[in-house]
Amino acid sequence: MSKRMITRQRFSKYLYGLGLLAIVWSINFSGLNKQFFSAKPDEVEDKIKDRVDSVLHLMTLEEKVGQMTLFTSDWDVTGPTMRATYKADIKEGKVGAIFNAHTAAYNRELQRIAVEETRLGIPLLFGYDVIHGYKTIFPIPLGESSSWDLAAMERSARIAASEAAAAGLHWTFAPMVDIARDPRWGRVMEGAGEDTYLGSKIAAARVKGFQGNDLAATNTLVACVKHYAAYGAAQAGRDYSTVDLSERVLREIYLPPFKAALDAGCGTVMTSFNELDGVPATANRFLLDEVLRKEWNFPGFVVTDYTSIDEMINHGYSADQTQAAEQAVNAGVDMDMQSAAYYNHLIDLVQEGKVSEATIDEAVRRILRIKFMLGLFDDPYRYSDEQREKSEILSDKNRQAAREVARKSVVLLKNEKQTLPLSIGIRKLAVIGPLADSQLDMIGAWSGAGEARHVTTLLTGIKNVIGDRVDYSMGCPVDQDDRSGFGAAIDLAKKSDAVVLVIGEKAYMSGEAASRSDITVPGPQLDLARELKATGKPLIVVLMNGRPLAIPWLADNADAILEAWFLGTEAGPAISDVLFGDYNPSGRLTVTFPRSVGQVPIFYNMKNTGRPMDPNNKYTSKYLDIPNTPQFPFGFGLSYTSFAYGKPQLSSPELHSGGSVQVSIEVTNTGKMEGTETVQCYVRDLVGSVTRPIKELKGFQQITLKPGESSNVQFTLTPDDLRFYDQEMNYRAEPGDFRVFLGENSAVSDYVQFTLK
Ligand code: BGC
Repeated sequence: MSKRMITRQRFSKYLYGLGLLAIVWSINFSGLNKQFFSAKPDEVEDKIKDRVDSVLHLMTLEEKVGQMTLFTSDWDVTGPTMRATYKADIKEGKVGAIFNAHTAAYNRELQRIAVEETRLGIPLLFGYDVIHGYKTIFPIPLGESSSWDLAAMERSARIAASEAAAAGLHWTFAPMVDIARDPRWGRVMEGAGEDTYLGSKIAAARVKGFQGNDLAATNTLVACVKHYAAYGAAQAGRDYSTVDLSERVLREIYLPPFKAALDAGCGTVMTSFNELDGVPATANRFLLDEVLRKEWNFPGFVVTDYTSIDEMINHGYSADQTQAAEQAVNAGVDMDMQSAAYYNHLIDLVQEGKVSEATIDEAVRRILRIKFMLGLFDDPYRYSDEQREKSEILSDKNRQAAREVARKSVVLLKNEKQTLPLSIGIRKLAVIGPLADSQLDMIGAWSGAGEARHVTTLLTGIKNVIGDRVDYSMGCPVDQDDRSGFGAAIDLAKKSDAVVLVIGEKAYMSGEAASRSDITVPGPQLDLARELKATGKPLIVVLMNGRPLAIPWLADNADAILEAWFLGTEAGPAISDVLFGDYNPSGRLTVTFPRSVGQVPIFYNMKNTGRPMDPNNKYTSKYLDIPNTPQFPFGFGLSYTSFAYGKPQLSSPELHSGGSVQVSIEVTNTGKMEGTETVQCYVRDLVGSVTRPIKELKGFQQITLKPGESSNVQFTLTPDDLRFYDQEMNYRAEPGDFRVFLGENSAVSDYVQFTLK
């Protein structure tokens, strides 16, 4: 008999002991998931609903509140340590979900307590931040978004889910879909950049990757889209700071990626730490009730971000934890992560009549529904699979997939005189810089259960290609003013044919609670770059960072620049593939690189203003000391080959309701290598009842062309693509003139124009 069957039997046996109701219930569970996925979606929902109600009917108020409570396991390197009372809490049915507990064996043990030692045996839900991989670590999400390759992003989420599910996990706190227009904010690294259209596509791809087609499959996780909402608009780029936006900007820029994730089936939503228009997101009825539940009909459950219920006291919105719990639950928050506010107060609040039992029931229904969909009532241990944990986690196949997406994420920012690719026959290569051999940094922030020791660094990656023809010198640290290594680095450069200088930020400098007011390359690294430049050797800069950096000196003086983010487990081989031309770089920025922090916020879809920049007129919108243009615009990235664009063509100068126009352009590979180009389509609405941005991304296509090959790339636009929130907040397209720009990045200037009738 297989282990799984034994556990299932034991589980059923326990249920039988609970009496007739439970017997009926457990019989109903068995085979439920098989029925689910052959049935129509409505029938599935009806079946789940019946089962959920049959469980709810058995539950005490205490047990219901338990399902609404999520605690961390406080897992650390030496083993799990929990709240002192955790086992008692689980055993008494006071906790329905645990996060930061993983590995098949450990989660199986906790699950056993819930299933075998609680009155009703309701299985626990195990959550974890599987952000860019579980053990096999993929590029940080901002880096991966630079691939613009939705299938690749779906695949990496798929692999992450598959590894995590084998290790006993059910639920990932991802994707993070916060639009980020301020590179000071450290959490820029966790999202898909600044654009709503692209961010929405990526949100959907990641949800599909995590959840697959079948939540009950043992290699999928339920996703949790976060942080709802507008967390990325934190004032001054300071994490957790206040957010104050117009409803129009909220709906047009910040909300669509959430909607896209939910349309892709995302099962859960996490609230954000920030307030919005004076009301913390965690008790914001507009966000949670009006938009999420009523407009979008979201059937899943809402969890808080960490202690955000408690934090409403600091916000000045709740007098104490009791009031905070009342406000959160009545606004529509179903599960309390880590505040213990529900744990401490919900029962009293119900007894005092401040929270209705119907509200509690609704929250518990939503949570149980997800547990049913995961198949946990069918087999609570289905996700803890030691066998698969051994065979699949960090498998060669997974590492190979990580290398493929990592190299697609590299963005070539500069390549003077074809400095790159390097010749594999190079006599001597100097690799210099504090990040070249840093496993700890290359794995990036939020790296799940990933271990630095599994990372192949860039130095190792290069050695694997050219052996002992590479020498390494650290030069200096990232974050201390120590220049004692400059001399050795300069000597090495002088002896070599080219220098690969690997500099940037340390991994801890981006991610949560990692805002920076100065977004230049930190420490003595730039001075090192200047000294190396003075040797006259070709200077190839590989940047590692979790946010756009201001790099004016490097942009002017380096011979080549590769933006390599933090690429994860296979960072080294992936970057070497690009350096030596085994992979022709195809990444494109998904976030604007400013010239200086003084331009922030700067993003491609800004408004024109009443006094657009005119170099000959002082009284126009500009700076005295720097141009308005960014260092590198959204959508930018070079290739080892070159692409020539023809003139954009339009199928008709008019677009009518119910109709469409086709816009097309001829793209030719005019260089000597096969390469992949991302053709981008932007629209400008010239006059609106509210002003419109100077450009908005409406489509993109990736094409791979051999040298000399051409392709006609076509986009179809319908009135639906031209909608926005008008003055009365109706989401519609207004008749008038529209420009369509087709080109290689958001700075494209060639356009065609049509009229929407
Ligand atoms: C972060 C979330 C994360 C949660 C659980 C919070 O501090 O903001 O993104 O999912 O912790 O680890």
